[in-house]
Amino acid sequence: MSNFASQRHDCANRIDLALQGFLTPRKLSGSGIAPDILVEAIRHGVLNGGKRLRPILLIQSAAIFSISEKQATRAAMAVELVHCYSLIHDDLPAMDNDDLRRGQPTVHKAYDEATAILAGDALLAHAFELLSHSDCHPDPQVRIDLVAELAKASGAGGMAGGQSLDLQGEKTRFSEKQIEQMQKMKTGALIYAAVRMGAIIGGADEKQLLSLSTYAQAAGRAFQLADDILDLTASTEQMGKTTGKDAAAKKPTLVARIGLKAAKRHLGDTIHTALSALMMFGPKADDLRATARFFGDRES
Ligand code: IPE
Ligand code: IPE
Ligand code: MG
Ligand code: MG
Ligand code: MG
Repeated sequence: MSNFASQRHDCANRIDLALQGFLTPRKLSGSGIAPDILVEAIRHGVLNGGKRLRPILLIQSAAIFSISEKQATRAAMAVELVHCYSLIHDDLPAMDNDDLRRGQPTVHKAYDEATAILAGDALLAHAFELLSHSDCHPDPQVRIDLVAELAKASGAGGMAGGQSLDLQGEKTRFSEKQIEQMQKMKTGALIYAAVRMGAIIGGADEKQLLSLSTYAQAAGRAFQLADDILDLTASTEQMGKTTGKDAAAKKPTLVARIGLKAAKRHLGDTIHTALSALMMFGPKADDLRATARFFGDRES
């Protein structure tokens, strides 16, 4: 395992530990008591071996500004909770109708549909609870900026909107441009937010934020392109989710529109765009560079 790969695994393990500590009946309860079944479903949907790439991106982006992993962990968890909620809902029968996620039964299979919907709802709410706490950042303005960034990325102009377009795209023929827009929203928005939230915690100036945003946009595009390529080329065991489903569901993917070879070329170009955007940061951005490269050659 390369140095970067083992660093990534170690970081993912630490994020898992932090998530385990937060997703407890006591911490998930407010003025009422969180029902056991909902807490179990939430834990099933989160603590199940995700790659934790969005929190890793946030931590790596913050590290450019000498922010420690510990200082960035609450915000990193918030992004992962929104991501896990999006996966739980993505797998529902009304959406992609998947039985397997991260090598385990999806939440609606292990529990039921209503519980999966509510687990997702709760995760979205708890993400913002994490950001609103003073342990997230001492400056309330920074906390508000983080809330705004994650909210924008999750809403109708971001992930939720992209998911809506993804479903529309099963029934209409999307142009290449429309597919790119859909991917930018359903997957890109959260990756974009993760990187920018790291920069916000770090107090990045406008130029730095712009460069990191360019990086994040390209990384997000690359990430979904790779996901679509892997749906065609990788096994279910390798991915921990049923592959070969995009073509069957007539999903609007670039792979379907331009073919595997062109999609792979496009992936390489997009990674290159992401790397070029980091020029101004020198070696401080090496971890972000390694993550972008990983997006291009990941096998799961
Ligand atoms: C899968 O995301 C869903 C997409 C946005 C393509 P990941 O591949 O990051 O899934 P986990 O979190 O590692 O399971
Ligand atoms: C999922 O895209 C995007 C979000 C969950 C927002 P996919 O539907 O391609 O993800 P997988 O392949 O099920 O992980
Ligand atoms: Mg989907
Ligand atoms: Mg899906
Ligand atoms: Mg997919």
